[in-house]
Amino acid sequence: MSVLKPILVTGGAGFIGSNFILHWLKTEGAPIINLDKLTYAGNPANLATISRDMRYHFVQGDILDKRRVSELLRSYSPSAIIHFAAESHVDRSIHDGRDFICTNVEGTFSLLQATKEYLASISHDSRSQFRFVHISTDEVYGSLGPEEHAFTETTAYAPNSPYSASKAASDHLVRAFWHTYGLPVLTTNCSNNYGPCQFPEKLIPLMILNAINGKSLPVYGDGQNVRDWLFVVDHCEAIRQVLSKGRVGETYNVGGNSEKTNIQVVRELCEILSELRPGRHYESQIRFVKDRLGHDRRYAVDTTKIQSEIGWMPLESFSSGLRKTVSWYLDNPGWVDSVTTGRYRDWINLHYDTSAAGHAH
Ligand code: NAD
Ligand code: TYD
Repeated sequence: MSVLKPILVTGGAGFIGSNFILHWLKTEGAPIINLDKLTYAGNPANLATISRDMRYHFVQGDILDKRRVSELLRSYSPSAIIHFAAESHVDRSIHDGRDFICTNVEGTFSLLQATKEYLASISHDSRSQFRFVHISTDEVYGSLGPEEHAFTETTAYAPNSPYSASKAASDHLVRAFWHTYGLPVLTTNCSNNYGPCQFPEKLIPLMILNAINGKSLPVYGDGQNVRDWLFVVDHCEAIRQVLSKGRVGETYNVGGNSEKTNIQVVRELCEILSELRPGRHYESQIRFVKDRLGHDRRYAVDTTKIQSEIGWMPLESFSSGLRKTVSWYLDNPGWVDSVTTGRYRDWINLHYDTSAAGHAH
């Protein structure tokens, strides 16, 4: 039996959370409890390789269920909470933001309350070692002009989508619990992640699957919107280091120093596919479709703080990470089948005009 205290992860069956759990169990000794509601985005298959690992415990539950969360905290006495659980897809938030307010705002509030009560019940030593790490996004800072300096930790919040507004609200609650009650919090604001196990409604996995299935590649607007891309394992390592070395109460921006227009991303992906899965002219499947409502033009992240204070740097380049990602989706058709269920197809039919090159909002 391990004598190390476990950590509690919320939303660990999703894209980043599951990659984090796998990364953690490879690099650390402490056990993990994964509290996940298993919404459409949560998939236990992401963690199939560790289902027999004695250090891993899965609990299906909602972060809004404060009694359940309090029981978990009392029975496992974790040394940290890493809070990933969220509704995370901008397009879904534009269709209907209700779930985003419930989970991202009310859920985070409920988790903070339960944590505050738990900390009041444990020893001074345990309390001083405890950390609450809140996983957030660069989207809280809004949209940049082409020449504007990248987001720093002091950039004013200006969220533009229901998703980013709900994440901004959760960041403010986390900050308020530090300021008001001294809850030992750390927040990370990260750019767009990509890698294995990302649900195929987000840009990169959607394009890979559409490409190999001979479907159109729907690029919103003029394709010139810019995102900074980070390979998911680099993000997981950043979180691990922020947990152990970050200064309590601080926020850290995390990014890949890899700004790309969407059309660049899609073209590079087509090139990799032509090499790994020849036989189609993938670029000819690209279609420019109706733009997303309120589509943020550019995100870019200044990572000076995390590099200088913590010593974290991304290891993967965009090209190497994208190649690994494309290979993973080609090598895992079983995983793809397990997530492209009826509910997934309902979303694709609702959001994309699948009969033509149009785009249904
Ligand atoms: P995801 O949508 O893939 O996974 C979210 C997980 O949370 C799912 O497993 C889901 O079942 C679970 N969940 C949802 N509501 C819940 C609830 N009420 N109670 C318990 N579990 C619940 O999301 P992701 O892409 O892995 O993102 C994880 C976190 O990282 C989110 O907070 C997101 O805002 C943040 N983030 C994501 C990105 C990105 O590019 N994906 C970038 C920066 C920050
Ligand atoms: P997405 O993966 O949804 O992440 P986010 O909105 O959080 O940045 O989208 C990434 C970019 O790709 C964003 O500018 C919207 C664009 N996009 C498309 O052009 N077509 C698509 O089908 C999707 C899903 C996204």
